[in-house]
Amino acid sequence: MRFSQSTVFAILPALVVARNQGQQFARQHDLNARQNPATGSTTTASVPVGTSASSVSGTAAATPTLATTFTFKLDATNPTAVPLSVINAAQPSSVTKPLDSTAVPGTIPTFIPNAPPLPNAALLNPANYPVLDKVPPVDSPEVKGWIDEVTATGIVIPSFDPTQPGGCPNNTAAVADTSRCWWTCGGCTRSTDVTQCPAPLNWGLTYDDGPAPYTSNLLSYLDQTNLKSTFFVVGSRVISFPATLQTQFLGQHHIAVHTWSHPSLTTLTNEQIIAELGWSKKVIKDVLGITPNLMRPPFGDIDDRVRAISMAMGLTPVMWTRISPLATFDTDDFNIHGGITSVQQVLQNWENILGNATTMSNGFIVLEHDLFEQSVEVATGYILPDALAHNPPFTIKPVIECLNKNMADAYIETNDNSTNPPALSAAVSAGVVTVTSAPASASNTSKSSAVSGQFNGAGLAYMATVIAGLAVGALLSLPF
Ligand SMILES: *[C@@H]1O[C@H](CO)[C@@H](O)[C@H](O)[C@H]1NC(C)=O
Ligand SMILES: *[C@@H]1O[C@H](CO)[C@@H](O)[C@H](O)[C@H]1NC(C)=O
Ligand SMILES: *[C@@H]1O[C@H](CO)[C@@H](O)[C@H](O)[C@H]1NC(C)=O
Ligand SMILES: *[C@@H]1O[C@H](CO)[C@@H](O)[C@H](O)[C@H]1NC(C)=O
Ligand SMILES: [Zn+2]
Repeated sequence: MRFSQSTVFAILPALVVARNQGQQFARQHDLNARQNPATGSTTTASVPVGTSASSVSGTAAATPTLATTFTFKLDATNPTAVPLSVINAAQPSSVTKPLDSTAVPGTIPTFIPNAPPLPNAALLNPANYPVLDKVPPVDSPEVKGWIDEVTATGIVIPSFDPTQPGGCPNNTAAVADTSRCWWTCGGCTRSTDVTQCPAPLNWGLTYDDGPAPYTSNLLSYLDQTNLKSTFFVVGSRVISFPATLQTQFLGQHHIAVHTWSHPSLTTLTNEQIIAELGWSKKVIKDVLGITPNLMRPPFGDIDDRVRAISMAMGLTPVMWTRISPLATFDTDDFNIHGGITSVQQVLQNWENILGNATTMSNGFIVLEHDLFEQSVEVATGYILPDALAHNPPFTIKPVIECLNKNMADAYIETNDNSTNPPALSAAVSAGVVTVTSAPASASNTSKSSAVSGQFNGAGLAYMATVIAGLAVGALLSLPF
């Protein structure tokens, strides 16, 4: 049994509301736009003509409450692009493309050495998973097992409390406590966070929040242009669209974790964070046979508590590039669907990203989404054609490959642990987290939490693996 598409669409509005609340605080600089939502239908701009060499400029005649001038100019657009005047919150849903290919159960992925055969997605039974789009309960046998596994690593989870809903303005003490390294309020990152690609003009392409009805349209364009992307997938959407995820994977795109229900992770207890990440890892493994080792926190909402739990679960965080409070590489494409931003504003954001990206001494990662029709249309009609025509040319790759690693290194079971140390050992050796052999009291967690740093026999076995992955120098500095 599968959830029908209409079930998914019934769930999406709740997700959108939750997300917009999160984004209220995630991007304070965009406050003005948020207080004055666009109607979308009142903006106009030149329509692309049928040639890939055409250029489109922003000439929006906006409502008084919208940003009124746009200066973007695209080097190329897709001849079949949906006109900008059509891409807005009010547009009717267009027909989705069927998947170009449907995965056959048992297929062995040839592009990842030693990958297991593809499971039969038709056997996925949603009744065996938590309710979609809700933080999963923490008392299930599965979650209890994952809590035990995290405990067994001996990781020290910082003891500070979860943040309150309402973001930076509602969390003045947490914001002031810079030891939390809370990205949402100040952009703090740790050395193990992936925030860019090392080489200049390299773009680590990412799409979040799918798989979804229009993911197939995006995949079709990526196939035509021979592009491969990273997809940060939501576990609840994997339940709804397992066949799409299999096609993405067999199409040699890179699959990574984006939680089960898309919450602001810093607001959750340790156990809830474990449940969100654990169920996402599990459903992806059940559908693909392998488990991602990269994750992106929804809204970029991460702090050292979330980092520690992610690393303990074998997941390295991937953000998007942020060079200043006013220059985060976020297209805001997600908000066209809700009428909060216009497609012209998204293309203006894209041009600002390009302007910054081409002057940087390293590559970059941009936030985009495949959940809604509008963001897929702006990607396939405008952003990607423009990027492909860019001079100097960009090298566009999935995140794992822009980091100079192989696709096999993107999954826990196939990762070459000697050249690409697993998340926890990398974090220990970088000094981002510590593990301890001391009893529970040495690594207290938040008051609401039962997860402690208690060390046990399973932990010893795990630590042997951790140590095996460490450089000698780092080993000497281990705290035990
Ligand atoms: C701020 O936090 C309190 C709990 O401390 C919560 O009740 C309230 O809803 C939050 N405000 C917003 C705007 O989310
Ligand atoms: C970099 O981004 C900022 C913020 O979007 C923008 O104001 C600025 O013009 C960009 N820089 C370049 C060189 O385009
Ligand atoms: C890397 O370690 C994981 C356990 O963390 C293991 O499952 C995997 O098989 C190892 N990779 C290889 C190539 O042996
Ligand atoms: C952990 O908590 C116990 C009591 O709750 C306290 O005595 C101990 O000092 C704490 N340890 C740390 C490292 O905070
Ligand atoms: Zn997301």
